Amino acid sequence: MRDSTPATPAGLRADFRRHFGGEPAVCRAPGRVNLIGEHTDYNAGFVLPVAIAFYVYAAVRARSDGRLRVHSTHFDETVELPITAGPASVTPPGGERRWSDYVWGVAQCLLARGEPLPGADLLIHGEVPLGAGLSSSAALGMAAALALTQSARRPLDPLTLATLCQRAENEFAGTRCGIMDPFTAAFGREGYALCLDCRTLTYRPVPLEAHQPSDAAAAAPRLVICNTMIRHRLAASEYNKRRAECERGVAALARLLPHVRSLRDVTLDELRSARPRLDAVIFRRCRHVLTENARVAAAATALEDRDFQRFGQLMGDSHSSLCRDYEVSCDELDLMVRLARELDGVYGARMTGGGFGGCTVNLVREDAVEGFRRFMAERYRQATGQSPEIYVCESADGASRLMQAPGEGQSWQRISRD
Ligand code: GLA
Repeated sequence: MRDSTPATPAGLRADFRRHFGGEPAVCRAPGRVNLIGEHTDYNAGFVLPVAIAFYVYAAVRARSDGRLRVHSTHFDETVELPITAGPASVTPPGGERRWSDYVWGVAQCLLARGEPLPGADLLIHGEVPLGAGLSSSAALGMAAALALTQSARRPLDPLTLATLCQRAENEFAGTRCGIMDPFTAAFGREGYALCLDCRTLTYRPVPLEAHQPSDAAAAAPRLVICNTMIRHRLAASEYNKRRAECERGVAALARLLPHVRSLRDVTLDELRSARPRLDAVIFRRCRHVLTENARVAAAATALEDRDFQRFGQLMGDSHSSLCRDYEVSCDELDLMVRLARELDGVYGARMTGGGFGGCTVNLVREDAVEGFRRFMAERYRQATGQSPEIYVCESADGASRLMQAPGEGQSWQRISRD
């Protein structure tokens, strides 16, 4: 969700007082950009996301009358959500999908766990670009979940919050998304990418910055995100279709290889031997997932070795595989990746997120960033008539609460610890 005014705690509190009255507590959760490892999370594979400093904020104050009122500054709309536990359902109150489904889904999942929800007033302010593949919905779900559990004085650990937010999105917002986005919203760490194993839910932080100041030659390049400003309508249905295709692949492979429970259990050689028995499309979907998992491992090592050339090659290979084998790219994303490859100082470029529009992520040498920005804006506009948004992004910590230090100012306190 995106609002043009950057949020300040004082501004959020003033907004809250205007809408609901009283003094709120303030929580926030970041969006994310995935460096590599696309469509692998729901296949028990590996991903390499970075939490980014675009946040969704949730200002909250408990109520004791069982009412849950939620205001979005972006949509300038207040809704009242039912918080009686019901059976899991994909039909939100009112029947139509809207921003508040994510909050409603989180509330339903908290109730389903037996958590107390005495009621709350919640003000939501989002800066994560909407529909851009930067995980605005997971940031919203996480900020709301943190705010509701804090206001009910029943804090949950970050892993529980992440799985709860995934479930809320799966069951109440109609997307069968994986764990990557809520996990990053909970565990993100400034200065690091997370190399996450989506089967074990364990991760290794991979530093984005050089830790030796003497390492000037390997100075960290910048992560630059280019937004195509396009969101194709079939994005959600094609996403769910890709998941179903992977499940068909697993079922077919398990008939040949009984130990197979997910694509994680299959080697590339096994997949190649099974090729004659697999539908051609299913074979390509599976090949993407297997090769992408290998690319994530290689990319995490390349980042640790400060080998940005290698990292960039792997980004390029990932994009090609997403185009040809997984078929989730689109003309606008391909154009942006092609344009980026024309420039000196760009180590690598690829689509990021679910695909069918949204953003590319680019690894750009610091001194080439301004030229990159101008070139991309101009050439993309010439070719499409659209002005792309371009963000030079900063990494960020995961979900946090604003705390008042005694006698001092306020500071954001992360909910996850290393
Ligand atoms: C979306 C989903 C994620 C992941 C990516 C593709 O962002 O929310 O779980 O599957 O697509 O990698």
